[in-house]
Parts: sequence; structure tokens; C-alpha cells
Amino acid sequence: MSRPDTPRPSRPSPAPGGSAPSRPPLRVMSVVGARPQFVKLAPIDRAFSAAGIDHVIVHTGQHYDPLLSDIFFSDLGISAPDEHLGIGSGTHGAQTGAMLAAMDEVITERAPQWVLVYGDTNSTLAGALSAVKLHVPVAHLEAGLRSFDRRMPEEINRVLTDHAADLLLTPTAVGARHLADEGLAARTVVVGDVMTDVLLDVRDRVAGSPSPIVAGMGLEPGSYSLATIHRAENTDDAGRLGAILDSLAGLGHPVVLLAHPRLVAKCSEHGIALADRGSLRVHSPLPYPELIASALAARGVITDSGGLQKEAFLLRVPCTTVRPVTEWVETVELGWNALVEPGPDLVRAACRPAPDEPAPQEAHPYGDGRAAERVAAELASRA
Ligand code: UD1
Repeated sequence: MSRPDTPRPSRPSPAPGGSAPSRPPLRVMSVVGARPQFVKLAPIDRAFSAAGIDHVIVHTGQHYDPLLSDIFFSDLGISAPDEHLGIGSGTHGAQTGAMLAAMDEVITERAPQWVLVYGDTNSTLAGALSAVKLHVPVAHLEAGLRSFDRRMPEEINRVLTDHAADLLLTPTAVGARHLADEGLAARTVVVGDVMTDVLLDVRDRVAGSPSPIVAGMGLEPGSYSLATIHRAENTDDAGRLGAILDSLAGLGHPVVLLAHPRLVAKCSEHGIALADRGSLRVHSPLPYPELIASALAARGVITDSGGLQKEAFLLRVPCTTVRPVTEWVETVELGWNALVEPGPDLVRAACRPAPDEPAPQEAHPYGDGRAAERVAAELASRA
């Protein structure tokens, strides 16, 4: 399973001169596979390196297009994966099953003291399930999120992962409450949100540089909405997907839709033309820094992505979410996110002005940008 071109992390040699051998560093294996997980991996990789943790990165290959994968490693300065499982796309069963079989092998071979899984994708569930059956402790980053919609594959993945894991690293007080309600309080630690860590860092880096949307598409800052739609609930049904695209095309200002491969695949399957029409301008997915620069210059964000809802909030850009529920309830409670159905509801919400800045005591529900350091400290304290 090892990539021939990636050196294995070295274990320290015994101390010279017969003195007591130094303790080998804590070995933690991160399992990632999909775009949002690479973003979360960036601050963790940096914090682990600073804490002297021997970090083994396993990429399952769930996302394989360079725009969804490699570019995140290079842009965010993440170490190259130590293992690449090359699993690719498939039905949930086929994809998760192939990952499970491959993970058994790499966990056995690499012998980590902890396996760290991220979020709610099929890669998360496979990493957690393989590790727990091999009696390797599992830590779940972004534990405790719930939509309470059991038809979502992500909801099943996160509930099962939380119940399998030994350490539940939750971003928010709401997440901790959900875990307590399920009898998991004793394993829970609130660490903040690692996406805040990376977002604040990248926001400062791109401040002042023009977004590719503004520079390349001739749009004025503050004039357009930035949109992404990819979830199964919105793309699997031709009628619903068509209604969403019609709503975007019918808005009174330009809408730049960053087309995830799943959206492209589903449009083609349903016979829906995914092309510029009305206000709609179709664009390929953006690398992370360019995405943040483009969201920052937008008048609003329209999405069904969990990460982008939160990023919009942190950037203080109004968000319109095409879903009946959200895991990130704080964004809605504070007035920066509206949950809508396609049609007039969506159009109205996407044209609303920005709300007031939250009161100082409510302004930072997603932490202070130092969550990854806390994750490193929690794992090190349990070595
Ligand atoms: C996955 C996660 C979702 C997350 C999203 C982020 C699951 C169940 N879902 O959804 O929670 O929000 O990642 O993007 O794990 N495809 C490509 N190239 C790629 C990857 C996918 O063309 O590199 C296409 C294929 O047609 C594939 C489809 O996208 O069948 C879906 O990919 P998949 O990894 O199953 O789920 P996502 O929709 O990306």
C-alpha cells in the first residue's frame, strides 16, 4: 500500500552511550479522503509537527480529481500522504468496503497509537471502523454534529463514528450537548473548530489579492453570489436539481456556480444542461485560497456545503443554504444563514442584506483559531 516515492516516517534511534532510550514520539494516523478533510488536515498537520507527533497521513482516494485533492496539499502546505489507497468513486457499500479492507492493512503495518478521523464522509466511517476492530484508539474530529436526518449518508457516518470512537473532539457546545444526549459525555472534549484555524490564516493571506471571479469574469466586488451545490439530497432528484438551477438563473444579480464533479455527473445523468443562462455563470471548483478570496468579495453565498456555511459566517458574508436543516445551527441563530427551499424562498433570501454583527459574547461560536493545538495536546496527554 505504501507509495514507492514517499519515505516512511523514521522512528528515532536509541540514545547513544547506553543512556536510557528516549521515548519514541506519539504516532497518530490521520485518515482523509475528501476535499473538506484536506482543509481540516492542514492545521492539524502543522500542530502535530510542532508538538513532535509522528504523523502518518492516509489518503483513501475518495476524491481524486486534482482540483478536489492535490491542489489542497500544495496550497495549504500539507505533508504528502504517506499512504494513498486509490479507492475512487463507487456506491456507498463498494466505496466504504474497499476502504475498510485497505485500512486494515495500513493500520496493521503502520501501528499507530491513535487513528484520527475527520468529519462525516465514507472515509471517516471506514477509518474509524477498521481502527476500532483492530483495537487501536480512535479520535473523531468534528464529533457531535447532527442534522437528525437519517436519510443523509453523512448523518449515518457521523453517528456511527461517534459511537465507535474513544475520544470525541467536538467543535462547539452544541456538539457536546448532542453527544451528552447520546450518553457519550465522558469521551467528549470541546476543542473548537479546526476550520476556523485554517480560514483565519488563509483570509489574512488573501486579503488584498483579487478573487479570480472578480479578476477573471469581469464582475465587481460585492455584486455577485457565489454558489456550490453537490449534496445527494439536492442532486439525485432531477426535479429538485432543475428547480435549484432555475432559481439561481432567475436571481437579479450574477451567480457564479462552482461545479463539483458530482453536480456535473448528475446533470449529465438527468439530461440537464449545466451552462451559463440568465444570471447563472458556471465555473470549475476553486483552490481553497481562491475560494476564500471569492467568498470574501461576494455579496452572498448560496450553498448546501457544511464547510462553506461556516466559512461564510466567519467571513461575515450572508449565506443561503438550500437544505431543510443544518448542523451549524449557530449560523442560523445569529441571522447569518437562511435555510431555504428552491423557488421564491431561495430568491428572496439570496437578495437580503447582511444582518448586524453578533454581540461580542456570541461572535465566535467556532473557536479562536487554535483548535488544532488543542487536538495535539489532548492526544499527547493520552499517550
Ligand atoms: C463527499 C462526502 C460529502 C462531502 C463531499 C465534499 C460522503 C458520503 N460524502 O461527497 O459529505 O460534503 O465529499 O466534496 O462521503 N467525483 C469525481 N471526482 C472526484 C470525486 C468524485 O468526478 O475526485 C464524482 C463521481 O461521479 C462520484 C461523485 O462525484 O461518484 C460523488 O463522489 P463521492 O466521493 O461519492 O461523494 P461527494 O458527493 O464528493
